[in-house]
Amino acid sequence: MTTITVCTTCRQPALRDDKTRTPCGEAMLAAVSAAAEAVPDVSVRGTACLMGCEHGCNVAISGAGKLTYVLGAFAPGAEAAEALVEYAAKHAASASGTVPYREWPQGVKGHFTARVPPLDGLPEL
Ligand code: FES
Repeated sequence: MTTITVCTTCRQPALRDDKTRTPCGEAMLAAVSAAAEAVPDVSVRGTACLMGCEHGCNVAISGAGKLTYVLGAFAPGAEAAEALVEYAAKHAASASGTVPYREWPQGVKGHFTARVPPLDGLPEL
């Protein structure tokens, strides 16, 4: 199982200072949840602030014993959500969480901000 954790409090840079607007992270969570609805082995949850506030919207893709990937600078919507879910399904199918670059959906390229190894060992890269 791979989980996509969506920051629900993210605001895109151009709108970050306007606190009268709903955070775009809420729309991102809705879009990712809809895209993942029928996809096996991918779950979605929301949480406040992943500490990448300068480049919202942010998400983390993780699974037990696997590499975690943090991605940001997404505009909320179906296009980003579908790319993230496609990537998460490949992460779920990988023993280490590694997805070969040639298999990355176009929509995730240029959005990676961090890769975090699992606590229980360092996978071969
Ligand atoms: S508000 Fe989304 S990372 Fe901080």
